[in-house]
Amino acid sequence: MRLAGKRALVTGAASGIGAATAERFAAEGAAVVIADLNGAGADEHAAAIRAQGGTAVGLTADVGDDASVAAMTERAWETLGGVDILVNNAAIPTIGTVETLAADEWDRVIDLDLSSIYRASRAIWPRFVEAGGGTILNTASVAGVIGMAGQHGYSAAKAGVVMLTKCIALDGAAHGIRANCVCPGFVETPMVNEYFDAQDDPAASRAAVNAAHPLGRMGQPDEIAAAFLYLASDEARWVTGTALVIDGGLTAGLPPG
Ligand SMILES: NC(=O)c1ccc[n+]([C@@H]2O[C@H](COP(=O)([O-])OP(=O)(O)OC[C@H]3O[C@@H](n4cnc5c(N)ncnc54)[C@H](O)[C@@H]3O)[C@@H](O)[C@H]2O)c1
Repeated sequence: MRLAGKRALVTGAASGIGAATAERFAAEGAAVVIADLNGAGADEHAAAIRAQGGTAVGLTADVGDDASVAAMTERAWETLGGVDILVNNAAIPTIGTVETLAADEWDRVIDLDLSSIYRASRAIWPRFVEAGGGTILNTASVAGVIGMAGQHGYSAAKAGVVMLTKCIALDGAAHGIRANCVCPGFVETPMVNEYFDAQDDPAASRAAVNAAHPLGRMGQPDEIAAAFLYLASDEARWVTGTALVIDGGLTAGLPPG
């Protein structure tokens, strides 16, 4: 068990990558709080993990709201008797360019996808410092490493996540706090399915996205959970400030030919 005795708080964990990460953490011995805006979904996923023999509790939380994040942090700390690993995973997709993205949509994606990580990290920071350390893991995206046409707000937010992670790592090191992020390529989740549904030809869009990954397909949530598991574990004790790209080769460079 790679996370035996660890306690983890995972946001956006009722669905997709967060759900798979919470499930994998629990399977590796961690006690997990599953926080999500979708409280019913969080409870349901926690119950499913418990049914598999894991330790998990669902919690309703809005990472876009200071008071909700403060309450989430306190509840998780009380419920688990402390937190060793915070996974800032909740986010929303947003399509739009500087031409088409309304100012309030821009503000919303920056708030939910980037400021939420500042918010949750700030809430847990004094507790980690007092405890002598902790691990902050953030879900960034390949969109934070290469530009995504048509996704100006989302890409800018995710690039911010990469850099915020590095800064947290630098200042956290003296306190035993490690910070890393994962940059997934396209992963088959409800979020990405919504993206395809919004395209003129969803089937063609899906095929093009699969083909854009040199390994020939999108990723699965458990393939991202495996990266989070490594970064959360003691095997990654000398890893901080990194942006681990898990993308089937999407950002490796130009294909042959
Ligand atoms: N799926 C992909 O292709 C992909 C690729 C790169 C990065 N990501 C990132 O992975 C993370 C998870 O995405 P996913 O694909 O699993 O999406 P998803 O839609 O399956 O899950 C996102 C979860 O976040 C929750 N959520 C949304 N807003 C919230 C809020 N304000 N407070 C709390 N919870 C909230 C949703 O209820 C949902 O359960 C996101 O950060 C996303 O940007 C996804």
